[in-house]
Amino acid sequence: MNKPVLDVLGRGRCVPPPVWLMRQAGRYLPEYRAMRARAGDFLDLVFTPEFAAEVTLQPVRRFGFDAAILFSDILVIPHALGQKVRFAAGEGPLLEPLENRGAFERIAGELDHAVLEPVYETIRRVKGELPGTTTLLGFCGAPWTVATYMIGGRGTPDQAPARLFGYRDRVGMDTLIDVLVDASASYLVRQLEAGADAVQIFDTWAGVLSPEEFQRWSIEPTRRIAEQVRRAVPAARIIGFPRGAGTKLADYADHAAVDAVGLDWMVDRAFVRERIQARLPVQGNLDPLVLVAGGAALDRAVDTVLEAFADGPFVFNLGHGIMPETPIAHVEQMLRRVRGRP
Ligand code: CP3
Repeated sequence: MNKPVLDVLGRGRCVPPPVWLMRQAGRYLPEYRAMRARAGDFLDLVFTPEFAAEVTLQPVRRFGFDAAILFSDILVIPHALGQKVRFAAGEGPLLEPLENRGAFERIAGELDHAVLEPVYETIRRVKGELPGTTTLLGFCGAPWTVATYMIGGRGTPDQAPARLFGYRDRVGMDTLIDVLVDASASYLVRQLEAGADAVQIFDTWAGVLSPEEFQRWSIEPTRRIAEQVRRAVPAARIIGFPRGAGTKLADYADHAAVDAVGLDWMVDRAFVRERIQARLPVQGNLDPLVLVAGGAALDRAVDTVLEAFADGPFVFNLGHGIMPETPIAHVEQMLRRVRGRP
């Protein structure tokens, strides 16, 4: 059976375009909040396959999205490398910060796949329950983005601690990135072997890098992950999402070895059409806030995205994760608008 998202990743065009949303399993859904309350801790939810599979399937059942994205988090990688990670209510992730090279030399160089086994089991369970046309996506964080949380210990508005670290100890940053390249590649390979149809690499903090550092710590590591993954799984499809890259997306599309490029809502659409979508499928890029706003502004914004990209290989998505305060009726309105067009 055909999977429209996979067809697009293979450079096909689908009418209407397939659609899924980043962070589609999350707090805007009452059934997610109920499951989260039952599981207690966020990491318990992630590492209990029965719960994680259920939460992965919830948005697909409710909205009929064309892809399910594995319910997990990018920070399971530092966790499986031996760094303490916790999710405090209302605060987001908190890690024991790696302040200097000495601190991260204590982190294991090898990923502990036993810790991650529940993630692979979640994929096997979801795979057995999905409609034949729904693509199952695995994911990981890009090394730079994961490194920013490992070094700073938390999210900050500009991830200054990791940028400072990179300027003060470039070799140290290279070493950490190298560890994360190998860990991420083997993690993605296991996900694909467990049944993921494709994977996405989230580089949420790519936009804070200067062009030189973007080349070194976003494009190069992503390319190495893609090459390592394809060595093990030659047919692997990989979406790269370097949020905030702007015109640096052109270099990313040319050199990161990804099959498709995820777009944030800030990027110039004409530039993307000419410079990116002419070569590679694109995915995005509705502003998550216009989905919160709804009404005529939402209809207008959906139309603008479709007019820009629906003529070519395109997966409709948000430009970043869905906000917890998003009304469900607005998601339904968006889907009618995307799917109602010829
Ligand atoms: O997309 C999906 O539905 C799959 C699940 C998913 C989660 N995190 C679940 C989650 C995915 C793909 C991620 C990726 C992720 N995690 C990224 C990259 C994408 C992005 O959004 O930028 C990053 C930077 C993280 C790290 C992270 N995890 C942060 C900053 C937070 C706190 C922010 C928040 O929304 O609370 C998390 C927690 C987290 N990961 C939640 C979910 C559903 C909320 C936790 C809760 O239920 O309380």
